[in-house]
Amino acid sequence: MLVIVKSNYDKLSEEAAKVVADRLKKKPNLVLGLATGSTPLGLYKELIRLHKYEGLDFSKVTTFNLDEYVGLPPSHDQSYHYFMQKNFFDEINIDPRYIHVPHGMAKDFKIFCSWYEERIKSFGGIDIQVLGIGANGHIAFNEPGSSLGSRTRIKTLTSTTRADNKRFFENEEDVPKYAITMGVGTIMDAKELLLVASGDSKAEAIKSAVEGPLTAMCPASIIQMHKEAFVIIDKPAASKLKGTYVDTWETIIFE
Ligand code: PGA
Repeated sequence: MLVIVKSNYDKLSEEAAKVVADRLKKKPNLVLGLATGSTPLGLYKELIRLHKYEGLDFSKVTTFNLDEYVGLPPSHDQSYHYFMQKNFFDEINIDPRYIHVPHGMAKDFKIFCSWYEERIKSFGGIDIQVLGIGANGHIAFNEPGSSLGSRTRIKTLTSTTRADNKRFFENEEDVPKYAITMGVGTIMDAKELLLVASGDSKAEAIKSAVEGPLTAMCPASIIQMHKEAFVIIDKPAASKLKGTYVDTWETIIFE
């Protein structure tokens, strides 16, 4: 696991984008795992800039998103389909046929979840998976207590996550109760992980994920078991870490 601490959110977003852009240049048909939430927005913004001004090409890329709320159609402005379309896909030259976001309105969720897993495999697996982290240590909607071997499935959202997300909905009761999410095991199958976190509200979760014991009570702590994981965070999110960490992945490569 390579932990990179940047001075602020913009710098961490640029650093994360550099990693994705590097992988994409090396493999134009990259299979890119994507996350929603406010943290990856800076990363998407920087990738859009690289596409528009430096010709970064997404035409052969396939994407798989981590999760989606159950019961929200893709047209709902709080659905993750909508979020991804507006904040990323509309701004790059991706082929819509290669975009995958779990379907919150699937008729049979069990069948859909197995299909999603198979679909990822049929593209040769995810090359690099972007991840946020919840203040409670969740990754995707794998809440504390999730099995560390879990696969794509329906999860009940915890009250903490629903409270964190209620700012996006008019009323608290409108926040969905269930989500469809890649499992921890699905995420761990990605060849590389790229976890981004910003701000002191994430400091405790980052401390548990990076330096705490491996536990289902902090699903993000599973990244300690991954062979190729980047954790790119800003100073406030790193404020509770005890170890000494680098400030760029490039020095590691060229030193
Ligand atoms: P955030 O969400 O980026 O909006 O903080 C991250 C997450 O809950 O996974």
